[in-house]
Amino acid sequence: MKALVLIGGFGTRLRPITYTVPKQLIPIAGKPLLYHVFDLLPPEVDEVVLATGYLSDAIAAHVRAHPLPIPIRPVPEATPLGTGGGMRNAGDDLSDPFLVFNSDVVADVDTSALIRLQDQRAGAGVMALYEVEDPSPYGVAVLGPDDRIERFVEKPERASAPSRWINAGVALWARSVLESIPRGVPVSFEREIVPGLLPQGVYGFRFSTFWEDAGTPTRLLNAQRLLFQHGRAAHRGRPPGALGSAQVAAASTARATGASFGDFVTLDEHAVVEPGAHLANCVVMAGATIEREASVIGSIVGPGARVRAGHRLQDGILGAAAEG
Ligand code: GTP
Repeated sequence: MKALVLIGGFGTRLRPITYTVPKQLIPIAGKPLLYHVFDLLPPEVDEVVLATGYLSDAIAAHVRAHPLPIPIRPVPEATPLGTGGGMRNAGDDLSDPFLVFNSDVVADVDTSALIRLQDQRAGAGVMALYEVEDPSPYGVAVLGPDDRIERFVEKPERASAPSRWINAGVALWARSVLESIPRGVPVSFEREIVPGLLPQGVYGFRFSTFWEDAGTPTRLLNAQRLLFQHGRAAHRGRPPGALGSAQVAAASTARATGASFGDFVTLDEHAVVEPGAHLANCVVMAGATIEREASVIGSIVGPGARVRAGHRLQDGILGAAAEG
Protein backbone atom coordinates (compact mmCIF):
# COMPACT_ATOMS: atom_id res chain seq x y z
CA MET A 1 0.00 0.00 0.00
CA LYS A 2 1.11 3.58 -0.72
CA ALA A 3 0.56 6.59 1.52
CA LEU A 4 0.20 10.14 0.24
CA VAL A 5 1.11 13.05 2.50
CA LEU A 6 -0.23 16.50 1.59
CA ILE A 7 2.51 18.96 2.33
CA GLY A 8 2.09 21.81 -0.14
CA GLY A 9 0.41 24.49 1.97
CA PHE A 10 1.92 27.89 2.79
CA GLY A 11 1.47 27.62 6.57
CA THR A 12 0.48 31.29 6.71
CA ARG A 13 -0.69 31.04 10.30
CA LEU A 14 2.83 30.16 11.43
CA ARG A 15 4.54 33.13 9.83
CA PRO A 16 7.21 34.48 10.15
CA ILE A 17 8.78 31.03 10.79
CA THR A 18 7.15 29.61 7.65
CA TYR A 19 8.67 32.29 5.42
CA THR A 20 11.79 30.12 5.49
CA VAL A 21 10.90 26.79 7.14
CA PRO A 22 7.93 24.69 6.01
CA LYS A 23 5.49 24.10 8.86
CA GLN A 24 6.09 20.36 8.65
CA LEU A 25 9.80 20.75 9.43
CA ILE A 26 9.25 22.68 12.66
CA PRO A 27 10.50 20.36 15.41
CA ILE A 28 8.06 19.52 18.19
CA ALA A 29 8.64 16.97 20.94
CA GLY A 30 12.10 16.37 19.53
CA LYS A 31 11.50 15.89 15.80
CA PRO A 32 9.83 17.63 12.87
CA LEU A 33 6.04 17.63 12.80
CA LEU A 34 6.23 15.60 9.54
CA TYR A 35 8.02 12.73 11.31
CA HIS A 36 5.23 12.52 13.90
CA VAL A 37 2.90 12.05 10.90
CA PHE A 38 5.23 9.30 9.62
CA ASP A 39 4.80 7.58 13.01
CA LEU A 40 1.18 6.90 11.97
CA LEU A 41 2.21 4.83 8.93
CA PRO A 42 1.08 1.23 9.36
CA PRO A 43 3.36 -1.70 8.42
CA GLU A 44 1.23 -2.25 5.28
CA VAL A 45 2.74 0.89 3.69
CA ASP A 46 5.78 0.34 1.45
CA GLU A 47 6.18 3.82 -0.07
CA VAL A 48 5.35 7.38 0.94
CA VAL A 49 4.52 9.97 -1.71
CA LEU A 50 4.80 13.61 -0.65
CA ALA A 51 2.55 16.08 -2.50
CA THR A 52 4.80 19.10 -2.05
CA GLY A 53 4.60 22.68 -3.30
CA TYR A 54 5.69 25.62 -1.14
CA LEU A 55 9.36 25.20 -0.08
CA SER A 56 9.43 21.80 -1.75
CA ASP A 57 13.25 21.79 -2.07
CA ALA A 58 13.66 22.14 1.70
CA ILE A 59 11.33 19.21 2.28
CA ALA A 60 13.02 17.04 -0.34
CA ALA A 61 16.47 17.81 1.12
CA HIS A 62 15.31 17.02 4.66
CA VAL A 63 13.78 13.66 3.81
CA ARG A 64 16.89 12.74 1.80
CA ALA A 65 19.01 13.47 4.87
CA HIS A 66 16.59 11.74 7.27
CA PRO A 67 15.23 8.71 5.39
CA LEU A 68 12.70 6.16 6.61
CA PRO A 69 13.10 2.39 6.20
CA ILE A 70 10.72 2.71 3.21
CA PRO A 71 11.17 5.01 0.18
CA ILE A 72 9.86 8.59 0.32
CA ARG A 73 9.10 10.18 -3.06
CA PRO A 74 8.41 13.94 -3.25
CA VAL A 75 6.19 15.06 -6.15
CA PRO A 76 6.22 18.87 -6.35
CA GLU A 77 3.42 21.06 -7.75
CA ALA A 78 4.40 23.95 -10.00
CA THR A 79 1.50 26.00 -8.62
CA PRO A 80 -0.64 25.30 -5.54
CA LEU A 81 -3.41 22.88 -6.45
CA GLY A 82 -5.17 22.61 -3.09
CA THR A 83 -5.74 19.32 -1.30
CA GLY A 84 -7.65 17.61 -4.15
CA GLY A 85 -5.45 18.96 -6.94
CA GLY A 86 -2.39 17.90 -4.94
CA MET A 87 -3.76 14.37 -4.57
CA ARG A 88 -4.44 14.18 -8.31
CA ASN A 89 -1.03 15.61 -9.25
CA ALA A 90 0.94 13.20 -7.06
CA GLY A 91 -1.42 10.25 -7.33
CA ASP A 92 -0.45 8.53 -10.59
CA ASP A 93 1.25 5.53 -9.00
CA LEU A 94 -0.86 5.12 -5.88
CA SER A 95 -2.21 1.76 -4.73
CA ASP A 96 -5.87 0.75 -4.46
CA PRO A 97 -6.77 1.77 -1.79
CA PHE A 98 -4.24 4.38 -0.59
CA LEU A 99 -3.80 6.28 2.64
CA VAL A 100 -3.80 10.10 2.78
CA PHE A 101 -2.45 12.25 5.59
CA ASN A 102 -2.55 15.97 6.19
CA SER A 103 0.95 16.81 7.32
CA ASP A 104 0.04 19.20 10.10
CA VAL A 105 -1.90 17.01 12.50
CA VAL A 106 -0.76 15.00 15.48
CA ALA A 107 -3.07 12.17 16.39
CA ASP A 108 -3.40 8.71 17.77
CA VAL A 109 -5.05 6.84 14.90
CA ASP A 110 -4.71 3.07 14.51
CA THR A 111 -4.26 3.14 10.74
CA SER A 112 -4.14 -0.67 10.47
CA ALA A 113 -7.63 -0.80 12.03
CA LEU A 114 -8.74 1.91 9.60
CA ILE A 115 -7.55 -0.28 6.71
CA ARG A 116 -9.48 -3.27 8.12
CA LEU A 117 -12.65 -1.15 8.26
CA GLN A 118 -12.26 -0.29 4.56
CA ASP A 119 -11.85 -4.02 3.80
CA GLN A 120 -15.17 -4.74 5.58
CA ARG A 121 -17.20 -1.85 4.18
CA ALA A 122 -15.76 -1.77 0.63
CA GLY A 123 -17.02 1.74 -0.07
CA ALA A 124 -15.22 4.75 -1.57
CA GLY A 125 -13.25 5.30 1.61
CA VAL A 126 -12.88 5.73 5.35
CA MET A 127 -12.10 9.01 7.14
CA ALA A 128 -10.66 9.16 10.66
CA LEU A 129 -12.94 11.35 12.81
CA TYR A 130 -12.27 13.06 16.14
CA GLU A 131 -14.82 14.79 18.37
CA VAL A 132 -14.10 18.42 19.29
CA GLU A 133 -15.89 21.14 21.23
CA ASP A 134 -15.93 23.64 18.35
CA PRO A 135 -16.02 21.96 14.92
CA SER A 136 -16.44 25.21 12.94
CA PRO A 137 -12.81 25.45 11.63
CA TYR A 138 -12.91 21.88 10.26
CA GLY A 139 -14.81 19.47 8.00
CA VAL A 140 -17.75 18.02 9.92
CA ALA A 141 -19.26 14.56 9.36
CA VAL A 142 -22.79 13.44 10.17
CA LEU A 143 -22.86 9.71 10.89
CA GLY A 144 -25.67 7.25 10.20
CA PRO A 145 -25.98 3.48 10.83
CA ASP A 146 -22.63 1.61 10.74
CA ASP A 147 -20.90 5.00 11.00
CA ARG A 148 -21.62 5.68 7.36
CA ILE A 149 -21.10 9.40 6.66
CA GLU A 150 -24.46 10.83 5.56
CA ARG A 151 -23.39 14.45 5.24
CA PHE A 152 -20.06 16.28 5.16
CA VAL A 153 -19.87 20.05 5.64
CA GLU A 154 -16.58 21.94 5.42
CA LYS A 155 -16.13 24.74 8.00
CA PRO A 156 -19.77 25.27 9.07
CA GLU A 157 -20.94 28.12 11.29
CA ARG A 158 -20.46 27.03 14.90
CA ALA A 159 -24.17 27.41 15.72
CA SER A 160 -25.28 25.35 12.71
CA ALA A 161 -22.57 22.65 12.79
CA PRO A 162 -24.43 19.39 12.26
CA SER A 163 -22.16 17.33 14.57
CA ARG A 164 -18.91 17.60 16.52
CA TRP A 165 -17.09 14.81 14.64
CA ILE A 166 -14.42 16.34 12.44
CA ASN A 167 -12.15 15.17 9.66
CA ALA A 168 -8.91 14.36 11.49
CA GLY A 169 -6.81 14.59 8.32
CA VAL A 170 -6.16 10.82 7.99
CA ALA A 171 -8.14 8.79 5.46
CA LEU A 172 -8.13 5.79 3.16
CA TRP A 173 -9.55 6.10 -0.37
CA ALA A 174 -10.22 3.76 -3.25
CA ARG A 175 -7.98 4.59 -6.18
CA SER A 176 -11.03 5.38 -8.33
CA VAL A 177 -11.59 8.47 -6.15
CA LEU A 178 -8.62 10.13 -7.87
CA GLU A 179 -10.42 9.92 -11.20
CA SER A 180 -13.18 12.18 -9.89
CA ILE A 181 -10.65 14.99 -9.34
CA PRO A 182 -9.96 17.25 -12.33
CA ARG A 183 -6.28 17.36 -13.26
CA GLY A 184 -4.05 20.43 -13.19
CA VAL A 185 -6.47 22.86 -11.52
CA PRO A 186 -6.89 23.86 -7.85
CA VAL A 187 -9.44 21.64 -6.12
CA SER A 188 -10.43 21.46 -2.46
CA PHE A 189 -10.90 17.75 -1.83
CA GLU A 190 -13.01 18.35 1.25
CA ARG A 191 -15.37 20.90 -0.32
CA GLU A 192 -15.57 19.79 -3.92
CA ILE A 193 -15.00 16.03 -3.90
CA VAL A 194 -16.00 14.41 -0.59
CA PRO A 195 -19.74 15.31 -0.73
CA GLY A 196 -20.03 13.67 -4.18
CA LEU A 197 -18.42 10.45 -2.89
CA LEU A 198 -20.94 9.87 -0.09
CA PRO A 199 -23.45 7.89 -2.23
CA GLN A 200 -20.69 5.31 -2.91
CA GLY A 201 -20.23 4.78 0.85
CA VAL A 202 -17.74 6.74 2.95
CA TYR A 203 -17.36 5.57 6.54
CA GLY A 204 -16.17 7.27 9.71
CA PHE A 205 -13.40 5.72 11.82
CA ARG A 206 -13.83 7.31 15.23
CA PHE A 207 -10.93 7.63 17.65
CA SER A 208 -10.62 9.50 20.90
CA THR A 209 -7.15 9.39 22.49
CA PHE A 210 -5.71 12.66 21.20
CA TRP A 211 -5.64 14.88 18.16
CA GLU A 212 -4.51 18.40 17.35
CA ASP A 213 -4.22 20.48 14.21
CA ALA A 214 -0.79 22.07 14.63
CA GLY A 215 -1.52 24.94 12.24
CA THR A 216 -1.23 27.91 14.64
CA PRO A 217 1.44 28.73 17.26
CA THR A 218 -0.89 27.90 20.17
CA ARG A 219 -2.03 24.66 18.60
CA LEU A 220 1.50 23.67 17.59
CA LEU A 221 2.59 23.97 21.22
CA ASN A 222 -0.52 22.10 22.35
CA ALA A 223 0.36 19.36 19.87
CA GLN A 224 3.85 19.23 21.39
CA ARG A 225 2.35 18.92 24.90
CA LEU A 226 0.08 16.07 23.78
CA LEU A 227 2.99 14.20 22.20
CA PHE A 228 5.04 14.48 25.41
CA GLN A 229 2.08 13.48 27.58
CA HIS A 230 1.32 10.41 25.45
CA GLY A 231 4.91 9.23 25.33
CA ARG A 232 5.42 10.14 21.67
CA ALA A 233 8.37 12.51 22.07
CA ALA A 234 11.66 11.56 20.45
CA HIS A 235 13.75 10.20 23.33
CA ARG A 236 16.42 12.85 23.43
CA GLY A 237 16.16 13.98 27.07
CA ARG A 238 17.59 17.05 28.78
CA PRO A 239 20.94 18.54 27.79
CA PRO A 240 23.78 17.92 30.24
CA GLY A 241 23.96 20.48 33.04
CA ALA A 242 20.35 21.64 32.62
CA LEU A 243 18.46 22.25 35.87
CA GLY A 244 15.15 20.62 36.83
CA SER A 245 13.47 17.38 35.81
CA ALA A 246 11.03 18.65 33.22
CA GLN A 247 10.05 16.89 29.98
CA VAL A 248 12.54 18.23 27.45
CA ALA A 249 13.60 16.88 24.05
CA ALA A 250 17.03 18.31 23.25
CA ALA A 251 19.23 17.48 20.28
CA SER A 252 22.62 16.09 21.26
CA THR A 253 24.30 19.24 19.92
CA ALA A 254 22.12 21.62 22.02
CA ARG A 255 23.73 23.29 25.05
CA ALA A 256 21.91 24.49 28.17
CA THR A 257 24.29 24.27 31.14
CA GLY A 258 22.88 26.18 34.10
CA ALA A 259 19.53 26.91 32.40
CA SER A 260 16.24 25.81 34.01
CA PHE A 261 13.33 24.08 32.30
CA GLY A 262 9.61 23.67 32.78
CA ASP A 263 7.79 20.95 30.86
CA PHE A 264 7.36 20.52 27.11
CA VAL A 265 10.44 22.04 25.51
CA THR A 266 12.21 21.14 22.27
CA LEU A 267 15.78 22.31 21.71
CA ASP A 268 16.90 21.65 18.16
CA GLU A 269 20.41 21.13 16.78
CA HIS A 270 23.03 23.62 18.03
CA ALA A 271 20.53 25.64 20.08
CA VAL A 272 22.26 27.40 22.98
CA VAL A 273 20.55 28.32 26.24
CA GLU A 274 22.81 30.33 28.50
CA PRO A 275 23.03 30.01 32.30
CA GLY A 276 20.16 31.53 34.27
CA ALA A 277 17.73 31.40 31.33
CA HIS A 278 14.36 29.69 31.82
CA LEU A 279 12.30 27.83 29.21
CA ALA A 280 8.87 26.18 29.34
CA ASN A 281 6.30 25.08 26.76
CA CYS A 282 8.35 26.24 23.80
CA VAL A 283 10.34 25.30 20.72
CA VAL A 284 13.86 26.62 20.17
CA MET A 285 14.90 25.87 16.60
CA ALA A 286 18.33 25.07 15.17
CA GLY A 287 21.13 27.45 16.02
CA ALA A 288 18.96 29.80 18.09
CA THR A 289 20.38 31.39 21.25
CA ILE A 290 18.61 32.22 24.48
CA GLU A 291 20.93 34.55 26.36
CA ARG A 292 21.55 34.75 30.12
CA GLU A 293 18.57 35.34 32.41
CA ALA A 294 16.13 35.48 29.47
CA SER A 295 12.89 33.52 29.63
CA VAL A 296 10.95 31.88 26.80
CA ILE A 297 7.46 30.63 27.59
CA GLY A 298 4.67 29.52 25.24
CA SER A 299 6.76 30.59 22.26
CA ILE A 300 8.53 29.44 19.09
CA VAL A 301 12.06 30.74 18.44
CA GLY A 302 13.04 30.41 14.77
CA PRO A 303 16.33 29.08 13.41
CA GLY A 304 19.31 31.26 14.28
CA ALA A 305 17.12 33.70 16.23
CA ARG A 306 18.28 35.26 19.49
CA VAL A 307 16.42 36.22 22.67
CA ARG A 308 18.56 38.86 24.35
CA ALA A 309 19.86 38.68 27.94
CA GLY A 310 17.14 39.34 30.53
CA HIS A 311 14.34 39.59 27.93
CA ARG A 312 11.08 37.70 28.33
CA LEU A 313 9.39 36.13 25.29
CA GLN A 314 5.88 35.02 26.24
CA ASP A 315 3.36 33.68 23.70
CA GLY A 316 5.61 34.95 20.91
CA ILE A 317 7.02 33.75 17.62
CA LEU A 318 10.43 34.88 16.37
CA GLY A 319 11.29 34.35 12.70
CA ALA A 320 14.59 33.05 11.39
CA ALA A 321 17.60 35.07 12.63
CA ALA A 322 15.32 37.60 14.36
CA GLU A 323 16.15 39.18 17.73
CA GLY A 324 13.72 39.58 20.57
P1 GTP B 1 -2.40 27.94 6.50
O1 GTP B 1 -1.86 28.75 5.35
O2 GTP B 1 -1.87 28.45 7.82
O3 GTP B 1 -3.89 27.78 6.48
O4 GTP B 1 -1.79 26.45 6.41
P2 GTP B 1 -1.80 25.42 5.16
O5 GTP B 1 -1.33 26.10 3.94
O6 GTP B 1 -1.00 24.23 5.59
O7 GTP B 1 -3.31 25.03 4.96
P3 GTP B 1 -4.18 23.91 5.67
O8 GTP B 1 -3.78 23.81 7.12
O9 GTP B 1 -5.59 24.15 5.38
O10 GTP B 1 -3.72 22.59 4.87
C1 GTP B 1 -4.13 21.29 5.24
C2 GTP B 1 -3.13 20.31 4.65
O11 GTP B 1 -3.16 20.34 3.23
C3 GTP B 1 -1.69 20.59 5.05
O12 GTP B 1 -1.05 19.36 5.23
C4 GTP B 1 -1.16 21.36 3.86
O13 GTP B 1 0.25 21.23 3.71
C5 GTP B 1 -1.89 20.71 2.71
N1 GTP B 1 -2.12 21.62 1.59
C6 GTP B 1 -2.81 22.80 1.63
N2 GTP B 1 -2.82 23.37 0.40
C7 GTP B 1 -2.14 22.52 -0.41
C8 GTP B 1 -1.80 22.58 -1.82
O14 GTP B 1 -2.11 23.51 -2.57
N3 GTP B 1 -1.08 21.51 -2.31
C9 GTP B 1 -0.70 20.45 -1.54
N4 GTP B 1 0.02 19.48 -2.09
N5 GTP B 1 -0.99 20.39 -0.22
C10 GTP B 1 -1.70 21.41 0.33
